[in-house]
Amino acid sequence: MPDAETGRRIIVKQTDDEAARFAAETIKTVIRDAVDARGVCWLALAGGTTPRRLYGILARQATAGELSWGSVEVFFSDERDVPQDDVASNFGMIQRTLLDHVPIPVTRIHPMPADAADLAEGAAEYEELVRRSVDAGEGGIPRFDLILLGMGGDGHVASVFPDCEALTERKRLVTACFVPVLGRRRMTFTLPLINAARHVILLVTGDDKAESVAALLGDDEDARRDLPAAGVAPAGGTLWVVLDEAAAHHIDLQAE
Ligand code: 6PG
Repeated sequence: MPDAETGRRIIVKQTDDEAARFAAETIKTVIRDAVDARGVCWLALAGGTTPRRLYGILARQATAGELSWGSVEVFFSDERDVPQDDVASNFGMIQRTLLDHVPIPVTRIHPMPADAADLAEGAAEYEELVRRSVDAGEGGIPRFDLILLGMGGDGHVASVFPDCEALTERKRLVTACFVPVLGRRRMTFTLPLINAARHVILLVTGDDKAESVAALLGDDEDARRDLPAAGVAPAGGTLWVVLDEAAAHHIDLQAE
């Protein structure tokens, strides 16, 4: 059960494969429950490298009729400022590893226009699309059934990086910003949209993330303060922090 106070559940699995499998089962359960309850599942997927294993598992398990994939609306929690066919594109990676293998109608797949000439305008348009497509919860913010996130070694989630204006954005739900550490622009969900979700999965594996995981889950408020991931706390939802032992090796939690 999630922690009663924070709505946070920390899961440690021995390997990255087991962590990905746990995340896959959680996603499938959320899809089933959402479609049963509302006839649709609003899902936002993450880029980077960590989720590729998870997407491959979902793709390989996607047998006819196993899940109501046709009732899933797919959005993306961030995107790089590149065309969709660029090797760095999150959408391109997710399309190759998952979307080409599950029967989701193309009309229900909504890539971010992160290669728009005017990125700020593109972000505003994407926010409008989210507002039109996803029913609002309390406070009038669209409430995703599940938002999948990875975490960088600096504790960034989606493209909410330290020292990036997206970190302090509390009005816009989707924004575009220049990321100093990358020297590039990104489009991203902001924390208000992320924290309106019913479920957020933070999937973090590998010993290169152990320091930021220890800072995120530890008691050192100073260490947590600078971590964008520490701002992920879905008010009326559940945060699933899914780790492998390598990412969790600085914290005192045993694999289950
Ligand atoms: C991106 C992702 C980003 C990612 C983290 C972790 O566009 O890169 O959305 O937020 O989740 O950077 O990346 P890895 O999974 O590659 O470690």
